[in-house]
Amino acid sequence: MTHVLVTGGAGFVGSHVVDHLVDAGYDVTVVDNLTDQVHDGKPEYLNDDATYVWGDVRDRDLMTDLLTEADVLNHQASAVGVGQSMYEIERYVEVNTLATARLLDILVTEEIDLEKLVVASSMSLYGEGAYYCPDCDAARYPTRRRERDMADGVWEHRCERCEGALEARPTSEEKPLDSTSVYAITKRDQEDLCRAVGRAYDIPTVALRYFNIYGSRQSLDNPYTGVCAIFSSRIKNGNPPLLFEDGAQSRDFVHVSDVARANVAAVEAPIADEAINVGTGNPHTIRDIADALIDEYGASDTVEPEVADDFRAGDIRHCYADTSRAERLLEFTASVSLRDGIEELVGWAETREAEDNFEDAHDELKQRGLIRDS
Ligand code: UD1
Repeated sequence: MTHVLVTGGAGFVGSHVVDHLVDAGYDVTVVDNLTDQVHDGKPEYLNDDATYVWGDVRDRDLMTDLLTEADVLNHQASAVGVGQSMYEIERYVEVNTLATARLLDILVTEEIDLEKLVVASSMSLYGEGAYYCPDCDAARYPTRRRERDMADGVWEHRCERCEGALEARPTSEEKPLDSTSVYAITKRDQEDLCRAVGRAYDIPTVALRYFNIYGSRQSLDNPYTGVCAIFSSRIKNGNPPLLFEDGAQSRDFVHVSDVARANVAAVEAPIADEAINVGTGNPHTIRDIADALIDEYGASDTVEPEVADDFRAGDIRHCYADTSRAERLLEFTASVSLRDGIEELVGWAETREAEDNFEDAHDELKQRGLIRDS
């Protein structure tokens, strides 16, 4: 039986990956340090058919023992928080970049032959998504928006040539990378390190560039996490979800069960040295997400989204996946609609306590200049 080691396998994405790998017949070992920013002790959803080791991916001796037993490494463990990464720089580089370097160092030093290495990467590597200028009939890849435009509430990108309005287009893996946060840089490091070592030592390596993942088991107490979990926690506590900018910015929301399926496909596909988008190919605005969540919680009479008079420094405006490479190489297409996915998230969240820590985190980010007034 193929033995898969899943790092971060008690976390939001990792735990769903574990369930899908166990269902597909793999022998799964998890290593996870149950970091207290997202866990309050052992979660109740652990899979009875997987083996759990409570330890840190940075622990060289532990990881040497575990990797020696593994046929496949599925590396999900990461510190995840774009805003937080901008002031806990050393910790993000240590947990994401350095720990990955150490795992690769162990593989090479101990001459461990893996059948496959799958690493969790991120759409954050792209920075802004891809755009098209209808007036110039040309592809455009804008970078950062101007601070003074943001302060004036001018949110959309304009063409660098004709100043006309740009339209968002699917972002393919070929788009030039523009990692704008410490978090994004460390995800790029993880991807680049794994692929470089994979190429040099014939370890078939696949980096999965996740778009915006949502679903059950995402921490409802962590105010630095993704927008669906933050909004869930706000609505559950009777507070309005706060829309940065004007709420018309858009993302590609992919359900965690689809992401887990993509991981099993990546373990099994006979491919090497690839980076592959994992998204749905369909953008949704943040206001749509807030409305859909309020509706699903049945809170329309008590809560409505509030437009904040501020924006997050460095945020991108639109990004959604070109899914053709995933279809071609992994035979993967996301199958959960936004409506079904939100129903699953809310069904789970209703069984949980949720501490709304948003305001403290918002104040902290504001104090540090990472959230700014418009
Ligand atoms: C970022 C990362 C992504 C990472 C994710 C979760 C980038 C480009 N992408 O995505 O890799 O997986 O964080 O950490 O860096 N928003 C609100 N109100 C809120 C919270 C968020 O309006 O209370 C808005 C944001 O301004 C943004 C959108 O919702 O426009 C999505 O935010 P978020 O869920 O944090 O994800 P990204 O920034 O897209």
